Amino acid sequence: MELDLGILKPQELLSLRLRLLYEKAGCCKYHVGRFEEYSLYQEYRRFLSSEQVLTFTDLDGRLLAMKPDVTLSIAKNAQPEPGECKRYYYTENVYRPSQESHTFQEIGQTGLEYIGALNDEIEAEVLSLALNSLALAGPDFVLELSHMGFVAGLLDAVGAPESIHSKLLGCIRDKNAHELQKAASGAGLSSQGADALCSLITLAGPWKTVLSKAEPLALNAAMGAALTELKTVCQMLEERGETEKLKLDLSLVNDISYYNGVVFQGYLAGIPRAVLRGGRYDPLAEQFAPGALAIGFALYQDELQRLEAPEPLVEKSAGKKVMLNVALPKGRLGDKVYDLLSGAGYGCPGGYADSRKLVVENPSAGIRYFLVKPSDVAIYVEHGAADIGIVGKDILQESGADVYELLDTGLGRCRMCVAGPKDFVDDPGRTLRVATKFVGIAKAYYAAKGRDIDIIKLNGSIELAPILGLSDVIVDIVETGTTLKENDLKIIKEFMSISARFIANKASYQFKNKEIAALLRKLSEVTESDSAL
Ligand code: PRP
Repeated sequence: MELDLGILKPQELLSLRLRLLYEKAGCCKYHVGRFEEYSLYQEYRRFLSSEQVLTFTDLDGRLLAMKPDVTLSIAKNAQPEPGECKRYYYTENVYRPSQESHTFQEIGQTGLEYIGALNDEIEAEVLSLALNSLALAGPDFVLELSHMGFVAGLLDAVGAPESIHSKLLGCIRDKNAHELQKAASGAGLSSQGADALCSLITLAGPWKTVLSKAEPLALNAAMGAALTELKTVCQMLEERGETEKLKLDLSLVNDISYYNGVVFQGYLAGIPRAVLRGGRYDPLAEQFAPGALAIGFALYQDELQRLEAPEPLVEKSAGKKVMLNVALPKGRLGDKVYDLLSGAGYGCPGGYADSRKLVVENPSAGIRYFLVKPSDVAIYVEHGAADIGIVGKDILQESGADVYELLDTGLGRCRMCVAGPKDFVDDPGRTLRVATKFVGIAKAYYAAKGRDIDIIKLNGSIELAPILGLSDVIVDIVETGTTLKENDLKIIKEFMSISARFIANKASYQFKNKEIAALLRKLSEVTESDSAL
């Protein structure tokens, strides 16, 4: 019987093509099965993306886990001989908690792991396979490349205390220059140190341009070595004619205790999140084979499936013009933002709030607004339904959305506060009852203080809670202070300043960079804040 490949779905064909690509590169298929002894994850939990693991007791009483990760199992079993590099690929499901659905999810991954003796050529080979994997999935893609040694060296050179590393890395990862400046000077770094950290955010683009801008900024041997390694592998890829879709972005940072060398991630046009992630992870490999080095990546099949989803209605009507989709919060903040954008040439004929329409656009200006509830802005942007959005920092922080935070517009300034009755005195001998809309923010604030609390989640009129004895205090935003005053409450502690932030979807930032940069520039001109571009 003839084999008819026409019956295969695009994802199935892609899987076969990836398999062929990896086999041709000399990789062996590695099958790991669904279960693993839980003790492996308990011992090496610092190498997992989440400590939450799905477990069950087997018939013989052993505690097993549904695999949250494939790399750990392969690293454990690879056992390369000295001088040998083991090349593996796999297609497996892993089980991880989803923040959004609050359940465990089955996630399909196809990946590659090279473990043992590595050198620049092997590293370039892995990057080439990452580029070719993306090319098989779709014609329009970008692979971003960075090196953890550069950022780690910079943190060291500017004397950033370790306690502040994760805050600084978070700001760098989000391209959030305004908060990076604040956090750096708050930690006592010099203004040159803070500026050096912020300059990372601008080091993005074609590899030669970025390296020539980065080289004068290398302040120590670690930073210099990272740039030399990047240069060598980029040159090797250039010789293969594979750098067209490669971009260096030195603000791409990943978990500093897991990744110790190059890190990279790939985006495909039409998919709102990175579909490929990888990097050099020697610390994990060394746990199982002393001296072993390792590099690998994974492609996320669930994300790739979106390529088969029908095109959104709004895009079908757009024709060829690149449209920037903006999630605009309905209400006072939206009015202010729209006025600003309209003044910068992004208005719509007939305004934006004169009808009940939820989508208004001006095709000649390349702009389309979605009128959404303020609390939903970050969701639309993170999921790529909108490319950019303007959202209060309170809502952004609470949502935990994985987006770039490119500009502090300075609009809608207010403060996140703990407030309570005028005669309130905290009794550390008992659990504090806290009413709030901002559960995540309140929990994080009290966790950092080590204070035991009970949260009472409300959706509005928070000030009522202490008046009625429902709570001891509230955590809420204060703008003018009128609501507190008129309800006989006082501010106990102000702990976060809030204003509207300009955010962007990470994939849109790759594929509509020119349009986003132009809008941001015009918006920066009409606000006094610094932009990240
Ligand atoms: C917010 C906030 C406070 C009030 C603070 O409520 O929750 O209640 O504004 O503003 P002020 O300091 O200027 O008085 P919002 O108006 O959003 O209504 P809500 O009670 O429904 O949350």
